[in-house]
Amino acid sequence: MGKIDVVKHILRNANHGQFVNGSGGFAWAPSNVALCKYWGKRDSELNLPVTSSLSISLGNKGSFTKVKQEGDVDRYILNGAIVGPETNFAKRLKIFLDLFRPFGVHYFIDINSNVPIAAGFASSACGFASLVLALNKLYDWNLDKKDLSILARLGSGSACRSIFEGFVEWQCGDDFNGMDSYAVKLDYIWPELRIGMLVISTQEKSISSRDAMWHTVNTSPLYPSWPKQVAEDLIHLKAALEDKDFSLFGEVAENNAIAMHIVMQAAQPAVVYSLPETMEAIAKVQKMRAEGVPVFFTQDAGPNLQLLFLGQHEAAVLRSFPELELVLPFADSKVKQIVLVDENDVEIGVSEKLAAHIQGRLHRAFSVIILRERDGKVETLLQQRSAIKYHSANLWSNACCGHPMPGESIVTAAERRLREEMGFGVSLKEIGDFTYRAKLINVDLIENEFDHVLVGFSDLEEIPFSISEVQDYRWIEVSELQQELKDYPEKYTVWLPPVVDLLVRKYLQL
Ligand code: DP6
Repeated sequence: MGKIDVVKHILRNANHGQFVNGSGGFAWAPSNVALCKYWGKRDSELNLPVTSSLSISLGNKGSFTKVKQEGDVDRYILNGAIVGPETNFAKRLKIFLDLFRPFGVHYFIDINSNVPIAAGFASSACGFASLVLALNKLYDWNLDKKDLSILARLGSGSACRSIFEGFVEWQCGDDFNGMDSYAVKLDYIWPELRIGMLVISTQEKSISSRDAMWHTVNTSPLYPSWPKQVAEDLIHLKAALEDKDFSLFGEVAENNAIAMHIVMQAAQPAVVYSLPETMEAIAKVQKMRAEGVPVFFTQDAGPNLQLLFLGQHEAAVLRSFPELELVLPFADSKVKQIVLVDENDVEIGVSEKLAAHIQGRLHRAFSVIILRERDGKVETLLQQRSAIKYHSANLWSNACCGHPMPGESIVTAAERRLREEMGFGVSLKEIGDFTYRAKLINVDLIENEFDHVLVGFSDLEEIPFSISEVQDYRWIEVSELQQELKDYPEKYTVWLPPVVDLLVRKYLQL
């Protein structure tokens, strides 16, 4: 069986195998990092692995992909820039799309990724997974996750794990055509788990993981020991997850990564991904551990590291590695479901967050305003949204905003998000609400919110904000902010003007 036969087999019952052109497919998939690695294939055409592997998804790091049938040549955009057909990226994408190409059809693909491309942070995993999910939407196939995982695997092995969030196991299977080789979601939840992306270099790798894998299997005298190592590591990792035994978890993940790199380094010629800075960082991690901070690392096919630690040690780890990009693999999953409402804020259902923003459905939201008094004037706290937010990235906005989870009160949700985003808790009081609808800039999403506005006070000199949500903050006098909103609206989120307007009219009564 070749790739095209697998695709035909899976699509035979999906919409009668038809490629009925919808208006466009749009989907998100998280990146993932393997804690027990996939290294070596038993079938290179179908990306069938020698061993099973186990990963954790990387929270809000991943790819949004938009796909449309369009024009008379394929057009690919990656992070806003056109990708030329001569690049390896375009060639690989085209080969994959050819598996799903009705005669004469050309695709427009727009990928937005917030993981460094091709630097060993599994950008191809979330890229192919989000592309398969977007095609599934475009053509209304309604495939189940098992079939989506198999299709994603045809693009890149590790992509089959990016169909899911949380801990995921890719079961290697033994069927020659790979219909039993797909990922499954594991039920373990570990909200305290933190992953720190330590970017040492974003240069393209000297050798792709695909080539390095093939070369290792074929030339490393240590490769025969790898499947046994993986089998043992998988057992220990699952035991660590079952017992939430962080030391065992970290030790197994770290040793598995080290073992994979040793097996590669024994290949002839050796495959070496680590740079001197990688080795320095590893030494620093080991030193921290010796000094009592339980932090471990894992390393994929690249010079960068992913640090593994628990929330209680976040501050210590960030002090030693201030450049770390923090990932909370379980933080977002709690708030993925949002509450749909009618124009009177009466609940009419729930929806997956992204779907509601794509369809522009009215949903419940809140905006928090934090005030303080300075020299007789009222100042308000602004946050600059992180560069990796799925919309309105880098824009300035009120202290925090968000969506209550189904069943959660507005005040509880707003106080929770304020703690999660800005790192401090105060009691909040609702002062009013408004409804607005706006198309967001730079992404194909529509905000349509019934927005509750809450006010609280703080005199904190330093705001200990979370760097995965926020990149900066400042205090500004309210009338000065009103002027700024008039002069430089492009620097602010679309909901900030009505929030400030409500504050001024209903609360400050200016
Ligand atoms: C080191 O999934 O990129 O990240 O199947 O050839 O596309 P292909 O390889 P790819 O390899 C990932 C290797 C790894 C380990 C892992 O993610 O399990």
